Amino acid sequence: MPKAAMRQADQSVNGLFAALGVDAGSLPRTRPLYRRIVALVEDGIARGRMAAGFQLPPERDLAAALAISRATVVSAYRELEARGLVRGYVGRGTFVSARPDAASAPFAWRGKMAASVLQFTDTTVRDLVRAAGDPSVVSLAAGVPALDCFPAAPFHRAVNHVLATQAASAWCHGPTEGMPRFRDALAHRFGGDAEHILVLAGAQQGLDLLARCLIDRGDAVVVDRPGYLGAIQTFRNAGARLVGWDVAAADLDELEELLLRYRPKLIYTNPTNQNPTGSTMPVRTRRELLELAARYRVPIVEDDTYRELGITGPPPPPSLFTLDEGHEVVIRINSFSKMLAPGLRLGWISAVRPIVDQLALIKQVVDPHTQNLSQLVVCDLVENGTLDAHLATLRAEHRRRRDAMVHALRQHIPAAQLHYSVPDGGMYLWCRLPPAISARAVQERARRESVMVLTGEPFYVDQGGDHQLRICYTAQPAPRGAQAARTLARCIAAAAHAPADAPATMRVV
Ligand SMILES: Cc1ncc(COP(=O)(O)O)c(C=O)c1O
Repeated sequence: MPKAAMRQADQSVNGLFAALGVDAGSLPRTRPLYRRIVALVEDGIARGRMAAGFQLPPERDLAAALAISRATVVSAYRELEARGLVRGYVGRGTFVSARPDAASAPFAWRGKMAASVLQFTDTTVRDLVRAAGDPSVVSLAAGVPALDCFPAAPFHRAVNHVLATQAASAWCHGPTEGMPRFRDALAHRFGGDAEHILVLAGAQQGLDLLARCLIDRGDAVVVDRPGYLGAIQTFRNAGARLVGWDVAAADLDELEELLLRYRPKLIYTNPTNQNPTGSTMPVRTRRELLELAARYRVPIVEDDTYRELGITGPPPPPSLFTLDEGHEVVIRINSFSKMLAPGLRLGWISAVRPIVDQLALIKQVVDPHTQNLSQLVVCDLVENGTLDAHLATLRAEHRRRRDAMVHALRQHIPAAQLHYSVPDGGMYLWCRLPPAISARAVQERARRESVMVLTGEPFYVDQGGDHQLRICYTAQPAPRGAQAARTLARCIAAAAHAPADAPATMRVV
């Protein structure tokens, strides 16, 4: 063996023994020998001496170092792989993949999982939705409308009506694209063409389908900065390179530079009552954005989920989808989560036919079609005017909640400690803390007092958000919201006096 190769082999074998805290000579020669190697490596992984990603020496090198046959090492590595503890990659080597887990014997399940899913480690959304339904937590974190305004009686009547008149349709399978009557009602109320609608189990499903449909690993995607955390997570998990476009500046020259530099596969934006900032893109910027997207042939995914939630100010400008008259570059996502209730899991996508057809082909394998009963019931509510009456009630209540939250924050928190603009719509106050106060420290203190808010970090595709908080003002009735604001005031004051607070280990708590 050439000298350099020998040195490398020694290093790799020594690395293993150093990690295990043993040396080759001390390896007991109990038989079968391969079991002994398995036990040693398993123990080293269990004790955390070799973390996921640690590379084991090549079989030949380990065999030479231990003066045993290569077949013995191969058997040991196979056994470790069968137990899910290591994984071999042709041409790259063998790597530790998971720790042994007593609860999941006979093997470590994580080690059996596809490499592509092991990156799904961010628990933000799961923690958010769990806390939103936990009565012991006052959640200002998840984006939830005033659910106590939900039109329960008309909903009840619509369920009875559907079951009395269309039970067969409700219980049968339905088309993947969605129930024809529902697609007609959506097109009629929200614009577009019924044939160009795909009904979804929520907007988040639409983002997932679009990521699968349009993104290859390494493709660049331009995303609002700050932008919706669920979109960021979905595009990131699809392997996209995320590039932020500053929402506050909405500078088209900057966007053009990004298009030239990164050649993105798509632009994702939430231009109306944006999550998290509450800002709305002016119509002129919308037209320029469309012109740019058409010129560079980059599709726009317009997330229009907050369009109906304007509470003050003029009505929002037309959607990018509406302004894009030939519907050439814009794909629009929408949802009833913010208009009615997130628990319904009901949304839709409007796009050109080839996109709708392909998305339906992808959807059918994960979710053959969206639940018929909720489609038919919500269809009734759209058709009989309940939805529009409810939206009027919701806007008035959201306005009350926004004003009560702003009043309580102003009353209890010095202006220098919390900056925000009062939004004209949406659901959030996007707040900035002074540089000396960490958002995580405030979040952690609030959690200890059973109040949940989000820090700014998950809304950025790059660094940012350490000193920002997102407060959902719509989720709690005004008195409860005001109470939570008092708690936040205490937490901010305490964090200001103890800036080196232990950081929270979880992003969402
Ligand atoms: C901008 C935006 N898009 C999509 C979603 C997801 O909505 P759905 O509940 O319909 O999946 C949310 C939820 O917070 C959101 O804020």
